Amino acid sequence: MEHDSEFHAALAALAWQIDLGADEAIGEAPVNRYEAVATPEPAVVAATVAPAPARRTAEPPPEAPAVDAVAEARAAAGAARNLDELREALAGYEHCELKKGARSLVFSDGNPQARVLVLGEAPGRDEDVQGKPFVGRAGQLLDRMFAAIGLGRTAPAAEHSLYITNVMVWRPPQNRDPTPEEIAMMLPFVEKHIALVDPDVIVVMGNTPCAALLGQRGITRLRGKWTQALGKPVLPMFHPAFLLRQPHMKREAWADLLELQSKLRTIA
Ligand code: URA
Repeated sequence: MEHDSEFHAALAALAWQIDLGADEAIGEAPVNRYEAVATPEPAVVAATVAPAPARRTAEPPPEAPAVDAVAEARAAAGAARNLDELREALAGYEHCELKKGARSLVFSDGNPQARVLVLGEAPGRDEDVQGKPFVGRAGQLLDRMFAAIGLGRTAPAAEHSLYITNVMVWRPPQNRDPTPEEIAMMLPFVEKHIALVDPDVIVVMGNTPCAALLGQRGITRLRGKWTQALGKPVLPMFHPAFLLRQPHMKREAWADLLELQSKLRTIA
């Protein structure tokens, strides 16, 4: 029995190492590479293996010129005069590491004349493949939610349509949350995006857009309460991916949709 559990523990430890990328056994004992630079290897090793190339003393890496990624984002976004130019500015922005791992730049979907702009978090796998926001299961729920109050991304009339975008235009690996630095460098683009679309109201879905636009997290506390950002009314709502995991919270989401409908009538 005991051997059985040792065997399974060893197997689990091995699987974990493989997950981390350690897929080759090169020694019996771990090697501390930091010490290895300072400590010469024992002579016996030198005698039994082919002569190693002369060891270079550790040199500090060359200084990379300091880049202010947020300032660069502000300059690039600020220069965009329309949505096409904003998309181009994002495509040319090289300071967000997520870009390297993503297949697509996911910019937006829907009608730029819409009264309601929905701001989500970041593309997932389906969005990365199709290059459009909210096209996976969460997106299908989002479409059903807004259809219930007569709004949709494909509706031709501005008063019935939606414009949908995300804080992040590139998919984070394994759908992890974007870091505060990643959000900060996307914020100038998001602000410009909203200014160019100029919607009547903004719906922020989930914690990432609340952090970006409102500087706050805590969607359970924030949802359903109107606030202001960029001179516009903002309504925080639960993210549809959360509602898929917690369907009993759809009641709150329905109340928030009715709140949105009523606001659109009052500011018509
Ligand atoms: N979740 C988001 O926040 N945005 C998407 O585009 C898809 C899933």
